[in-house]
Amino acid sequence: MDAIVSVTADWGIGRDGSLLVRNKADMRRFKELTMGGSVIMGRKTFESLPGGPLVGRNNIVLTRSRDFAPEGVEVARSIDEALEMADAYGERTWLIGGASLYEQFIDLCDEVYVTCHDVVLEADAFFPNLDDDERWICADVSETEFTASGIPYCFALYRHI
Ligand SMILES: NC(=O)c1ccc[n+]([C@@H]2O[C@H](COP(=O)([O-])OP(=O)(O)OC[C@H]3O[C@@H](n4cnc5c(N)ncnc54)[C@H](OP(=O)(O)O)[C@@H]3O)[C@@H](O)[C@H]2O)c1
Repeated sequence: MDAIVSVTADWGIGRDGSLLVRNKADMRRFKELTMGGSVIMGRKTFESLPGGPLVGRNNIVLTRSRDFAPEGVEVARSIDEALEMADAYGERTWLIGGASLYEQFIDLCDEVYVTCHDVVLEADAFFPNLDDDERWICADVSETEFTASGIPYCFALYRHI
């Protein structure tokens, strides 16, 4: 399994249930990378998706609730169950958030595709700081580009060692 995430300079990923930065190129890349695969997400992230389940992907939602059964998703009550579902689907598996899933399951990932925005914004959800963790190396960083509102960003690839 690999993870994909969009962060600000202090590894912030969200506030009040929403993303921090609007970045069309990042959304496009997220779609391209995850298309055709399984995406594992927490119930709160699922509920924040504007259009419901992500089209063209096997949506697996983690919850402890017995009543949660929306259309178009597989519901898992543990990460082992989620990984079994992804395994049965047979394509690439992505951990797509939110904060609680990243926190609990990042060590199960081989690689993390990080969109790094060079800005600090008030956040209430964070990704683990991989720069402070010796088990992760930054294997690749793209050229700096800019969002429509002028925020500098790059794409980085972190690898579990
Ligand atoms: N920047 C990014 O790339 C990115 C990506 C995704 C999300 N986000 C942001 O992250 C924030 C949401 O993160 P969050 O931590 O609040 O919520 P979350 O991780 O999306 O969902 C949390 C929920 O997942 C379920 N869950 C968590 N661990 C579980 C486990 N071990 N077994 C079974 N179910 C489990 C529980 O659902 P129940 O309560 O139903 O039991 C829990 O309340 C939002 O601000 C969102 O915008 C950012």
